[in-house]
Amino acid sequence: MKTTRILQIGDVHLPEWTASETDIDTKDAEFSQEIIGDLKHSRLSQILKGINKTANSGTIDAVFLMGDLTSYGRNEFIAPAMDIFNTLLQDASSATRPEIYVVPGNHDVNRNDAQRLGTLGKFAHFREAAEGLGWSSPPVEGARCLKLGKGKTDSEPLPLILINSSIGSQSLHALAPSIENSVTESERGDGAPVKILSDSLINDGSETPDFGGATTTGHTLTEQRYRHLDTPYISKEAMANTIQAASSAKGSTILMCAHHNLLPQRVPRISPYAELLNGGHFRSALLDTNKNFIYLHGHIHDDPIEIIERPSAKIGDTRKCTIITISAPPIWKGYNEIALFHDQSGDVFLVRVTLYRLNPSGFISNFTDQDTRFIPLVGRSEMLVSNSANKLWEYVKQQTRSFPEIENSSSAPNGDELENTLMALFCGGFVDIKNLGLPRHRWRITALGGSH
Ligand SMILES: [Fe+2]
Repeated sequence: MKTTRILQIGDVHLPEWTASETDIDTKDAEFSQEIIGDLKHSRLSQILKGINKTANSGTIDAVFLMGDLTSYGRNEFIAPAMDIFNTLLQDASSATRPEIYVVPGNHDVNRNDAQRLGTLGKFAHFREAAEGLGWSSPPVEGARCLKLGKGKTDSEPLPLILINSSIGSQSLHALAPSIENSVTESERGDGAPVKILSDSLINDGSETPDFGGATTTGHTLTEQRYRHLDTPYISKEAMANTIQAASSAKGSTILMCAHHNLLPQRVPRISPYAELLNGGHFRSALLDTNKNFIYLHGHIHDDPIEIIERPSAKIGDTRKCTIITISAPPIWKGYNEIALFHDQSGDVFLVRVTLYRLNPSGFISNFTDQDTRFIPLVGRSEMLVSNSANKLWEYVKQQTRSFPEIENSSSAPNGDELENTLMALFCGGFVDIKNLGLPRHRWRITALGGSH
């Protein structure tokens, strides 16, 4: 048994990141803008400090950056953003440096590069910046199918698939002809607003559609052009690579990472292609492989955890056909730590997501119950297979035990495996753990009767 720990960092948007919305009261326009700026800055620096601490705790195996390192394709900020994270994520003193992975976001694509260098060439800048720091090479056309935790010999490495969902960004090749014509016409360059849709598409002859007050007014020309040309999709190659790698994977769980979300987002965007063009097709193709996927993404500036499953493929309480999508918030709101608990065969039986968020007073907090989410992949029957789990359960059945008490008893497996085994028992409904969101020494473990 082992645990894989991952740090998930959402959209960065350098250099606007400090100007992003916060809950600082800015209603009084007379109040010093400098002080407001300082307050916002200090909140961001709390988060960066938190990332630094978590990344260098010695327990993180890999860090994933969800893309959108800059905004509107200003690629002069991409290398500086990566530099900042390279420093934050890899303390010189730390002996166990986590591997760093990054995927391109739509905002990382420069419009002139797209025209000049083409669909794939426009990512050269991004790729070179990441490779220059010794990070894992980001995906461009096909999927990057890798293994996580190769160095660890105690079990099969976890399949990892990185996907570039921003391949259509700032390109005309994926646009419908009616929209493409609208772009080229408006880009003759007199500064007139870009038409978001051609008149024939939005005007059905009755009245102008009501977009809930959201119109193109108020957006800069850059923003309008940007939204117009933001056409996310998964390339044919990436899809084929993913299905092939997933189908041939030994274990039942695959870790994936792409910038865009697979399900529609809560807040609709007024643009022709607000969602992944082939997201639904991709989801179905993933489910057809009969594997479980943990799909990490950013992009939506929100942090839902969503589960897509085929109930018919569920055997007992064990998931065989599930996609768990985990969204990282934008960096100014926090970050996620994800722990994957593996069983004896190496398969993942539990996903734990710890949400590090700024509390209103400006500090990173994670040690409260509501900030930890548990998503079990395996039901209770499998849990009894492990002798150590059984022994521990018998011990807890005698009376409620604290974590330190269990740790010092002869019934406990060593080190990390104790937490892992307790998680297995908790997940299977064999024990209840009070104070689960608090540090381990505060846990109180009670056996639940139940049948088995
Ligand atoms: Fe994005």
